[in-house]
Amino acid sequence: MPVQFNLNGVLCVEDGLPPTTSVLDYLRQHKGKTGTKEGCAEGDCGACTIVLAREDESGTAIYEAVNSCLLMLPQLDGANVVTVEGIADADTLDPVQAAMVETDGTQCGFCTPGFIMALYALRKGGEKPTDEVIHEALAGNLCRCTGYTPIVAAAKKACGNAPPDVVGARATLVPSSSYATENQRFSAPTSLEDLAALRAANPSAHLLAGGTDLGILTSKERQPLPEIISTVHVEELLEITETDDYLELGAAVTYTRALPYVKRLYPSLATLITRIGSRQIRNMGTFGGNIGTASPIGDTSPCLIALDATVILHSLSGARSVPLEDFFIGYRETCLGPSEFIKAIHIPKLSSGQAFRAYKISKRYDQDISSVIGAYRVGISDNKVASIRVAFGGMAATPKRASASEAALAGKDWTEETVLAVAAAVAEDFTPLSDHRASQAYRLRVAENLFVRLYRDLSEFEDLTDVVAA
Ligand SMILES: Cc1cc2nc3c(=O)[nH]c(=O)nc-3n(C[C@H](O)[C@H](O)[C@H](O)COP(=O)(O)OP(=O)(O)OC[C@H]3O[C@@H](n4cnc5c(N)ncnc54)[C@H](O)[C@@H]3O)c2cc1C
Ligand code: FES
Ligand code: FES
Repeated sequence: MPVQFNLNGVLCVEDGLPPTTSVLDYLRQHKGKTGTKEGCAEGDCGACTIVLAREDESGTAIYEAVNSCLLMLPQLDGANVVTVEGIADADTLDPVQAAMVETDGTQCGFCTPGFIMALYALRKGGEKPTDEVIHEALAGNLCRCTGYTPIVAAAKKACGNAPPDVVGARATLVPSSSYATENQRFSAPTSLEDLAALRAANPSAHLLAGGTDLGILTSKERQPLPEIISTVHVEELLEITETDDYLELGAAVTYTRALPYVKRLYPSLATLITRIGSRQIRNMGTFGGNIGTASPIGDTSPCLIALDATVILHSLSGARSVPLEDFFIGYRETCLGPSEFIKAIHIPKLSSGQAFRAYKISKRYDQDISSVIGAYRVGISDNKVASIRVAFGGMAATPKRASASEAALAGKDWTEETVLAVAAAVAEDFTPLSDHRASQAYRLRVAENLFVRLYRDLSEFEDLTDVVAA
């Protein structure tokens, strides 16, 4: 079946190109859309930003900025794609383009189409352009020459007053279930049974959700992956279920879709999620992909372990639940069987008296991978530690619970002295590595200090701000 999508409102039907062709290469080399630029080919610079437009369940138009360098061509199937060439009328610039001209928001211009498209998504989304919102919307775009002040001014000028919009009939394309060339196949099942059957038949296939990890293999490393199974059209993997006791996120739910739930139920986790990559990354990236990639410095896993989450694994033989802390069995190794995949992540709600906090330590606030992540679910009663679960990322070969530290705190008085005494236990729990992100000594010191931060944060001794003005 060919891949079909709308590109700036024009139907494109593509067959014969390798499925691992990046959308960036496709646009530039096959469609002459050279406004979309290649800076890094790994999701960091935003020069390749395009927008995918769709309607949500309620019919509201959603415009999401994404990195075209990380997307494979068949991921566009059924999509409405907007590039920088598609946003101006014959003789009228889009308001964000006009504002960039008026504020002198461009110099060499290389980054500009990417900024324009990030701003276009912001404008079409209708969000009020506060400093915080603009910071978040542009964190995935780098400019080496203009400086950001005029670009922020353009955002303020052009965004915040878009009329309600409809994507309309252009959104009616349906994804095909398989796209293949002689040596490569990209399958996009739509039901759980079909995904389970495909997985069982192709245990060595690469599962693909948003592709913000996997896409680097094809974009940067140019690996011609022979067999790819996309999970993002499987309805059961897209479900979000909330009951009185838990939140369950389908493995293919993106960060952007999950964020309103997470903000309400686990606000500190939401703050951390808004630091995962950029909006472009969060619009595609999923919880299932973050867990599936099994990185010791992935941000969500320590948080979900501290929250006592379980993963629901599925295969043709049925489903099983595994506590997330037992899912990781070694460096980038999981307990997934060859025919299994992650169906959902089940997260208990906080009970009354419990608090959750997560702290991410990285060299840069935005668009950076953690050196250390500390995550804590704490229950305090009568000024004693009634319950405690602590997990860290960046401290071991897997995201891991800090059992000795938990034991050092459990049942103790909730005082700064108790918390300071945890220091010795952290070294019992972890022997971290030194690498380019941080040394062993730094990681240990940070992990100890994060307990103090937790104490001061929960005791409201400090008004913790995440970005400190210079
Ligand atoms: C610029 C940039 C910045 C980033 N910043 C951060 C960051 O700050 N913090 C962070 O934690 N990560 C970060 N990442 C990594 C990545 O965005 C996240 O890990 C993301 O959650 C991956 O989700 P995905 O849907 O894109 O996964 P994919 O790339 O589609 O898949 C990732 C892995 O998970 C497997 N997988 C996917 N779905 C399933 C499933 N249902 N069952 C089993 N296995 C599955 C895939 O086979 C693959 O091995 C960043 C990446 C980039 C490119
Ligand atoms: S080329 Fe840099 S983010 Fe895509
Ligand atoms: S204007 Fe030159 S990189 Fe931004």
